[in-house]
Amino acid sequence: MKREPADGYRKVSAPRVVSIEDLRHLAQRRLPKVVFDYLEGGAEAEFTLRANSRAFEAITFRPRQAVAAGECDLRTQVLGCEISFPAMLAPIGYSRLIHPDGELAAARAADSAGIGYILSTFGGHKLEDVKAAIAGPAWYQLYLVGGREVAEAGMERARNAGFSALVITVDTPVAGLRERDIRNGMSELLAGGMFSKLPFLPQFLTRPRWLASFLLDGGLPKLENVVVPGQGPMPLMDVSAALTQEVVAWSDLGWIRKHWSGSIVVKGILTGDDARRAADEGAAAVVVSNHGGRQLDSAPAAISVLPEVVAAGRDQVEVMMDGGIRRGTDIVKAIAMGARAVLLGRSYAYGLACAGEAGVTRALEILQDDMNRTLTLLGCASIAELNSSLISYPRQWRG
Ligand code: GLV
Repeated sequence: MKREPADGYRKVSAPRVVSIEDLRHLAQRRLPKVVFDYLEGGAEAEFTLRANSRAFEAITFRPRQAVAAGECDLRTQVLGCEISFPAMLAPIGYSRLIHPDGELAAARAADSAGIGYILSTFGGHKLEDVKAAIAGPAWYQLYLVGGREVAEAGMERARNAGFSALVITVDTPVAGLRERDIRNGMSELLAGGMFSKLPFLPQFLTRPRWLASFLLDGGLPKLENVVVPGQGPMPLMDVSAALTQEVVAWSDLGWIRKHWSGSIVVKGILTGDDARRAADEGAAAVVVSNHGGRQLDSAPAAISVLPEVVAAGRDQVEVMMDGGIRRGTDIVKAIAMGARAVLLGRSYAYGLACAGEAGVTRALEILQDDMNRTLTLLGCASIAELNSSLISYPRQWRG
C-alpha cells in the first residue's frame, strides 16, 4: 500500500519542481556552499563529471511509431529481487549533512517507490535503523576505513540487520582531488580548531534554515557504522582523509567472501577486463561507474563504456551503471544499452536537500513518469522490450 507523501511534498510539487534540475536549484539555495559543493563537485577539472551527463546527449532514440503500447511495465529484478523500475539509490556519504533524516529519508522514499537503497559506510544513521525503513532490496556499501577488524564488525552488523548484498567500491585507492572541498574549508570545518574554522563560517549564516536543522540534529553526526573497538563510532572526517585509509585490492575479495555469505557487487568498473575479473572473484553484479566524476578525472563517461562491460560480463554478472542520470530518458538509454538497472546519486540527493523524504520521493516520481512517457513514445510496453535497436550511439563506444 502506498504511503501518503511525506511532509514537505508541496514544496517540491509542480509547478515549482518539474525536473531534477529544478530540485538542484532549490538544493543550492538551501545548502551551505561547502555541503552543496561536496555533493555537486567532481575531481580536478571536472571533465569526467561533465562528460557523464553530456554523453547521454550523444544517444538518440529510434522509436517504433504508431504502436499502442498501453500501460508500461517498468518492473525488473536485481539480484533476484523485484523492483518497480530499474533504479537503486546509490550510496551517498554524509547524507545526514544534506538533511538530518539523511539515509533514513532516502531508504523510506526508496521503499515507497518500490526500489532499492544502498547505504554508504559514511552514513550518519545506524544501519539497523536504515534497514528497518525499507522492505525491498537494501545493500551495504563497505569502505575499509578503520581497518579489517572494524570492517568485519560492519559486515556482521549488516548481515544481522538483513542487508542482502555488499557493495565494494574499487575506484578509491586514494581520494580524487576535489578542489571545491579544499576551497570551501571542508577539512578545517570537520577537523580543525576554532581558529582555522573561522574563515569558513560565514557561508552558514546565509543558510539559516539549514543551520537550524543541523544544530537541532545535534551538530556533526558520527560515522555510526564505523565502530572502533573501545572508542565507539568514528567522528566524521574529511572525505579525502577517509578515502585515503581505504584501499581495496582484488586480493581482499577472498577475505571479504569469508565474512560475507550474501551477494557481492563490485562498483567502479570501467573496462571489460575488470568486469571479468570481478566475476572471477565471485561478484554477482558490477556497477559501471567513475564515482560520479569524483575520482580519476578524464576517466570516460560511464555510459560510453557500458557496451564494452556488457559485452564482456553479461553472461557472468548483472551489469548496472551510474553517472550523469538526470532524466528518465537517460535510464531508458542505459537499459537499452544492456544495463540491468542504474544507480541514482545526485538526482535524489538534490531532493533530499530540498525536503528530506518528500524530496527524494519527488525525484523518483519525476524519473518514473519520464520513463513511462519515454517507453510509450518509443512504442514499448515494457522495460523487457528495450534493446539496442531502439537507440543509436557513437560507433567508438561499441564493446
Ligand atoms: C564518497 O564516496 C565520496 O565520493 O564523497
